[in-house]
Amino acid sequence: MTAFPNTIHFIGSNKPRRMEISVRDLEVEGEIPAEVDGAFFRAVPDNAHAPMYEDDIALNADGMIARFDIRGDAVDFDIRYVETDRYKAEKAARRALFGRYRNPFTDDPSVAGVDRTVANTTPVWHAGRLFMTKEDGLGHEIDPHTLETVGKWTFGGALRSPTFTAHPRIDEETGEMFFFGYEAGGLCSTDVAYGIADRDGNLVSEQWFSQPYCSTIHDFLITEKYAIFPIFPTLAEIGRLQAGGAHWAHRQDLESWLGIMPRYGKVEEMRWIKGPIGVSAFHEVNAFDEGDLVHLDLCLTDTNAFQFMREAGGIDIPQQDVRGELTRWTVDLGKPDPQIETHRLGPPGDLPRIADTDQGRPYSHAWYLGMNPQGGPPMPGGPVGANFNSLMRIEPGNGHVELLGVPPGAAISEPVHVPAARDGHEGWLLSVVDIPANPDPAAQIPGDYLSELWVIDAGNVQAGPVARVKTGIALRSQVHGTWVSREEMANSVRKG
Ligand SMILES: [Fe+2]
Repeated sequence: MTAFPNTIHFIGSNKPRRMEISVRDLEVEGEIPAEVDGAFFRAVPDNAHAPMYEDDIALNADGMIARFDIRGDAVDFDIRYVETDRYKAEKAARRALFGRYRNPFTDDPSVAGVDRTVANTTPVWHAGRLFMTKEDGLGHEIDPHTLETVGKWTFGGALRSPTFTAHPRIDEETGEMFFFGYEAGGLCSTDVAYGIADRDGNLVSEQWFSQPYCSTIHDFLITEKYAIFPIFPTLAEIGRLQAGGAHWAHRQDLESWLGIMPRYGKVEEMRWIKGPIGVSAFHEVNAFDEGDLVHLDLCLTDTNAFQFMREAGGIDIPQQDVRGELTRWTVDLGKPDPQIETHRLGPPGDLPRIADTDQGRPYSHAWYLGMNPQGGPPMPGGPVGANFNSLMRIEPGNGHVELLGVPPGAAISEPVHVPAARDGHEGWLLSVVDIPANPDPAAQIPGDYLSELWVIDAGNVQAGPVARVKTGIALRSQVHGTWVSREEMANSVRKG
């Protein structure tokens, strides 16, 4: 196949753009605050080649690393492919050789045994290095100045796990990175590696444990005392993969689990606590401990939010009927048989963001994206097929929510947070907003939009952007992003 399928995974903001470009001195409307000085890195899945199969999905696309480099009012934009083994093999062949999402049994025989990861999910910054990550493989180190791919990251050969999460948690106070990798023992294995890297980027601990079933552990949590692994019933099965089927299938009839262990402890100390049946969450906001109590805040849904994972499990729930809410689970570890207590925190949504200094600690506010029904129909595209159209600031302690909508038919991507220099200011959020060329929702053409970077006062989101940086082009949907200050860029291990 050399043409792209006409499905939700390739239209709207999922329309393949496939361009490695550099644009200097983007147009800026408004004023960028002086403390917003650094680089906003974004992970963008974008196919270098048309897929082998008509039913391919957006999450299977090659990873691109994009960067807005902001110095005063001068903003440059760059985007490059992550040169994974897979990208290089397909580039040489000038066609797709890797088949269905995370199913090696559907690949062209010429690439048997070649690393399949596309490194398309999250840019991670730790100990002066930039990585592009996807949970089915190792992180790939990227030169933050040139965006060239340096290679796979194994902590100098120390890491045994062949997988590394796209959601490590970094404790700002200690500088440590806590992470995990699932299917560590091979495809569909229940082995999970749990690791800690110190503030200098050395691997100081790696322990393996077994999860209750082979689920997609997309995110996890730390508190000052604990590491927390939420397990939801979306399962991989080797027989289904061998038959050419989907990697993941949701099970509405199975219980969820929480695995909680001391974060510096032994995996043998893990306590497994049963959770509600059939639920799912891909991202958790934050967690903290309070005596024997552990609180964790999740973007919880009553089934899997990805249609292709529901379909593979025979679950017939249309996307607009998926229900959820921002939810707090509280567990009392002082009890011999702890149960999960559930509290509603706020409206449904996903792609949460906290200030880095709040990681694993009691926190007063967070930001996440949601669907504002007053905003009209969502722009098609993004990983689940419908883009978010509002940014919310929530105070989990009292449920207070403030909301910023985007223009009709526009889409907003996950923000990054830039701390403020002065006390008492919540800092700034940077988020890409895709704005349809035609403001009339009835006349909008999917994929016909221009992408802007909005700079928003994090403590006053409803006031709208203080600055809009115009790329002049349409960018494909981002998954996650990360902010790296000018000082961190200057102190990076790679010097460009
Ligand atoms: Fe994620």
